[in-house]
Amino acid sequence: MRRIFILIVAIIICVSNAVAQGGMWLPVLAQQRIADMQKNGFKLKAEDIYSVNKACMKDAVVLFGGGCTGEFVSKDGLIFTNHHCGRSFIQQHSTLMHDYLADGFWAKNITEELPCEGLEIQILDRMELVPEKYGDMSDDDNRRAVIADYQSKYGDNLEYSVEGFYGGNVYYVFVYKVFRDVRLVAAPPSSVGNYYSDTDNWMWPRHSGDFSVFRVYADKYNNPTDFSNANVPYHPKSHFKISLKGLNDGDFTMVFGYPGVTESYLPSCAVKFRQDVDLPARVCVRQLEMDLMEEAMNHDRQIKIDYASRYSGVENGKKKWEGAIAGLLSCNAVGRKQELEREFQSRLSTSELRGKYSNIVRAFCSIYNATNIKAARCVTYFTESIYGLSQFKAGEQLTRLKNSMANPSSNIDNEINNVESKLRSVFDKRDSTLERNLFSALYKIYCDSCPDFLPDDLDSLYASHDIADAQDFVNCFYHGSAAAQLQTALNVVAECREALKLTGKKREVKIESIVETLKHDIGVYFYDSNIKMLFQKAYFTYRDMIQAEDDMYKRYQAALLEVMPEVIPFPDANSTLRFTYGKVGGFEPRDAVVYKSFTTLDGVIAKDRPAPADYDAPSALEALHRNRDYGRYADKDGSLHVCFVASNRTTGGNSGSPVINGDGHLVGINFDRCWEGTMSDIMYDPSICRNISVDIRYVLFLIDKLGGAQNIIKELEVVK
Ligand code: ARG
Ligand code: GLU
Repeated sequence: MRRIFILIVAIIICVSNAVAQGGMWLPVLAQQRIADMQKNGFKLKAEDIYSVNKACMKDAVVLFGGGCTGEFVSKDGLIFTNHHCGRSFIQQHSTLMHDYLADGFWAKNITEELPCEGLEIQILDRMELVPEKYGDMSDDDNRRAVIADYQSKYGDNLEYSVEGFYGGNVYYVFVYKVFRDVRLVAAPPSSVGNYYSDTDNWMWPRHSGDFSVFRVYADKYNNPTDFSNANVPYHPKSHFKISLKGLNDGDFTMVFGYPGVTESYLPSCAVKFRQDVDLPARVCVRQLEMDLMEEAMNHDRQIKIDYASRYSGVENGKKKWEGAIAGLLSCNAVGRKQELEREFQSRLSTSELRGKYSNIVRAFCSIYNATNIKAARCVTYFTESIYGLSQFKAGEQLTRLKNSMANPSSNIDNEINNVESKLRSVFDKRDSTLERNLFSALYKIYCDSCPDFLPDDLDSLYASHDIADAQDFVNCFYHGSAAAQLQTALNVVAECREALKLTGKKREVKIESIVETLKHDIGVYFYDSNIKMLFQKAYFTYRDMIQAEDDMYKRYQAALLEVMPEVIPFPDANSTLRFTYGKVGGFEPRDAVVYKSFTTLDGVIAKDRPAPADYDAPSALEALHRNRDYGRYADKDGSLHVCFVASNRTTGGNSGSPVINGDGHLVGINFDRCWEGTMSDIMYDPSICRNISVDIRYVLFLIDKLGGAQNIIKELEVVK
């Protein structure tokens, strides 16, 4: 490990500029990048990015709610993140009377701030290379030993984790402070924060003010603690100053945050598998699901509300993967990887590492054999289609009930209560017609796409129930299964409770009859037989394949580090803190199309429509535009800039990340990527990969002039 680490530090120093653009750098190694950053316009020093001895930027960047990033913007614990990151907490406080999602929320003083249940903020205290003496970190005991030692060194009121880099060739231990009293301070209406929501998602040009504001609270000693009225605002070691200077094309920007997952160093065959098999399967199922939901949502307002967040989630993945497939094809990712592999082999042929690695690409690619591909494709289809069906989940609960009743334990009452509450949540806010249509379509696509992965006894079930096809199966489910409706399912639950009250023979007979009926319930069959099929025919093969992929990916990265270190200058994203830097600038996504680097409020108003709600900009915003009331937030060109694009390499998890200029000041909040470049999780191409941020001047304008929240503006440190 030590040898590989030394190699890594050596490469980071000497990577070329082109590579530096697509980097996701470890803050602890900022020293190795600083000269290049300074050459590109960064005016601060490495210890301003990361230091354990003095306050620095890393103290101002937080992991928000486990999957997003946020940043401190005041000495009193105020945090900026995205609207879509805060969404579920804004929703948590929304009612028909106070619909903060629709109308926005602006706390006018500290007493109006709203505690958010379940929201955690993590601040990185330090990260350290795991010393060699702890041995192999893939061994859980060794990891526990590291954590135990760090706990005794730094105290047990902090959280610790050990994370692998370069596929597990190097390990770091992370020490976090975790805050559980976090309160909602402000959010614009969804018609600003989520303007043109799914329509514009992953796309440029973009016009949303995707931000929300929270505050972290601590105990009176400034330490993390659970919610209490006695808590006071937390004073972070450091926070960002906010610049109103604006940006020009070519300006340096840096994004500091928690990117989730990238797979930058896969060989050609693994890329081909994703591009041709896995991602298309996902897109295909999700498209079908979206078409059905959209149709129903367009015809019924209640359905639109109840399915909005599910639709967004399905759409978010589908659109990104579609972009990724198109991008991988258009940049010839497979061909470029093959070229790299040829170079790798040719360098190997004259190197003493020949014996160690000459077979590695072939061995890696042998994972993608016909049997494995078939099983993996089916697991993907299964998880995207059947697994999420409400009918499958209801079947699962009745199966649990059947099993518990067949062998009642002393805990049976609890088990039944549990089944009941799960059943209620399965049916909660579901439209029965739409659910039935989803079942028909998704079950059929699974049967059609994976004919070799159906339950063995399906034919005999079809024969005995006179079922002709998948559609008929669904009809049969709705005619006969207790899992088809909440009430019929709850009737079975009630029957079980009654049976358990009986004694002696009567009880035995009744229980036996319930279990027997459930055994023949087609909903129970649907769950039970498909789960068994999945495990017998696909899952174990798939699991072994994933394990083999992980092992090979680790070995292959070790090989690249030794043989072609310049192509592997930084480790893949793994939800740990990274910084990336690039330049502001538009791009040319396809023939004859040129994108500028920023959008303005004129563009917001130009697409303002009375319906649907998220296309309808607030009238107060229209008035501010009419009067050109932009104050100090206007650009030097007189317009109000809304969003901008730059070449920082980001991924899911970077939402809410601070975008920082050469002076180290906050100039934007990252919230998305451009569709044409979403293949950057696998292959980054600086000509078309762009991150999208909301201009901080638009954020301040909205807080100040739309929200009238002078209290927030006063707390910020605004610089020119
Ligand atoms: N595409 C962004 C991300 O991956 C934003 C998603 C939220 N917005 C939406 N319209 N669904 O998280
Ligand atoms: N919206 C994404 C997030 O929530 C960031 C976009 C991306 O994947 O780059 O993290």
